[in-house]
Amino acid sequence: MEKYEPLIFHGSCENSIKREIKDQSLDLSFLDPPFNQDKYYHNHSDNMKTNEYWTWMKSICEMIYQKTKDGGVIYFMQREKNTEEVLRILRETNWVFQNLIIWKKMTSAVPQKYRYGKHYQIIAFFSKGERPKTFHKIRYDAPLEPHMKIKRDNGLFCTDVWTDIRELTSGYFAGHEALREEKSNKRLHKQQSPIALLLRILLSSTKPNDLILDPFAGTGTTNIVAKQLRRRSIGIEKSEKNIKIIRKRISEKKVSDNILKYRQYYRFTENLDDIWPISIPFI
Ligand SMILES: C[S@@+](CC[C@H](N)C(=O)[O-])C[C@H]1O[C@@H](n2cnc3c(N)ncnc32)[C@H](O)[C@@H]1O
Repeated sequence: MEKYEPLIFHGSCENSIKREIKDQSLDLSFLDPPFNQDKYYHNHSDNMKTNEYWTWMKSICEMIYQKTKDGGVIYFMQREKNTEEVLRILRETNWVFQNLIIWKKMTSAVPQKYRYGKHYQIIAFFSKGERPKTFHKIRYDAPLEPHMKIKRDNGLFCTDVWTDIRELTSGYFAGHEALREEKSNKRLHKQQSPIALLLRILLSSTKPNDLILDPFAGTGTTNIVAKQLRRRSIGIEKSEKNIKIIRKRISEKKVSDNILKYRQYYRFTENLDDIWPISIPFI
């Protein structure tokens, strides 16, 4: 099998992590679990008792810690209202805080009656040990903001507030990247993450050949990006329907999944050729 072909496991991540992953082998894990907000999932109840849900999340963070190399990292995405719980369980499982990333999703916020409309999601970035062993200071060609007078010659460095990545909403803006049923054109998975989000995370925190885990793989976005960046990756997904979607997506090599369209955007990053070896055609 090709070295960067993702390893995809069907089943619960609680079991597969224990069984399939060696201790101290992971460089990065990205967690985008169901958020326990009563959304529909095949094979999963998204309406657990709150304390059961967080006990479950904590046990997964604990298992991943054991499977991660010293200096390896975890990125845990959640709703902003769960920030306290996410930070607590990561600390209690010995991970060390690096950043709380605010992902402002470029979609419209829904106005609320007695508080501000919600406009972002959080991504908690923690490491095993005091410092991550890998961190690339990426620079990108961000659009000029109204308060900036002059366009920077060498772009902007990436901070902990991400405003330039659009969520794949269910409406018009979901675009071609959102996977859809052929006949009905309905979204195949409403929580599909944008490839631009995983590209940023993997570029910042991994090197070619590193090993990446996505225990809630969904449509396999993490694996699709990892493969193109020449990182090894493992995806675990409980729903058989999604497993089929992942396998098809990997073999199809869709134009909308090709990360090369972002290459120019990151051209100001000093060691770009080392951290993003170009593979043509799209592997
Ligand atoms: C929010 S979605 C992840 C979406 C993903 N980031 C993507 O880009 O497609 C969470 C996924 O976790 C899966 N899931 C739920 N419980 C699971 C478990 N115990 N083990 C593995 N996967 C699970 C669901 O079927 C769902 O596809």
